[in-house]
Amino acid sequence: MRFGILASGSGSNMEAIAQAIDGQGLKGEIGIVIYNEPGAYVQHRAAVRRIPVVHLNHRDFGSREALDHQLMKVLNAHGVDLVLMAGWMRVVTPVLIDGFPERILNIHPSLLPSFRGMHAIQQALDYGVKITGCTVHVVVPDVDAGRILAQAAVPILPDDTPHSLRLRIQSQEHRIYPEAIADYQQHLSQSHVLS
Ligand code: GAR
Repeated sequence: MRFGILASGSGSNMEAIAQAIDGQGLKGEIGIVIYNEPGAYVQHRAAVRRIPVVHLNHRDFGSREALDHQLMKVLNAHGVDLVLMAGWMRVVTPVLIDGFPERILNIHPSLLPSFRGMHAIQQALDYGVKITGCTVHVVVPDVDAGRILAQAAVPILPDDTPHSLRLRIQSQEHRIYPEAIADYQQHLSQSHVLS
């Protein structure tokens, strides 16, 4: 199975997925990493691993749909079977979702359905919840509303800052995302057999 990773930032989740492939906990290969923010560190991580990288700056596109059409072209050109959003900070449209039905996963830094959308960690701190976490889910047109595949809880400590909390959430993300992808591969292969 070929994975296409969409990222906007540091790429620590991409790295966790690549390490799970190295360690054989996850079968498949990363066929392409696409990032949108100029200078995003994920491009260095991918280059070190000699994974092909494409930069698509969303500011160069007139609409979300136009960006998603280009994403489709790049993902298809690299033979991608499963799209993994790993810190992709753009809302995706039915152009992409219908192009990869049930084949796009996302990792989100909260216990969904709480704190959907942007700034989930700050939202949790502002609300004053005592437990937050992270969620792997299937991507649907409604933001962060798709079927939940895996979650991990992270307690919020009295002296937590957005940075300290992000680090603890991300260490859980790096554990549950590769596991959830492997489980989802099983699910896909079984539904293929049954259909
Ligand atoms: C991750 O913590 C992920 O949960 C979050 O972006 C971070 C990317 O980190 N995603 C969202 O907030 C999506 N709404 P990374 O680039 O180091 O993987």
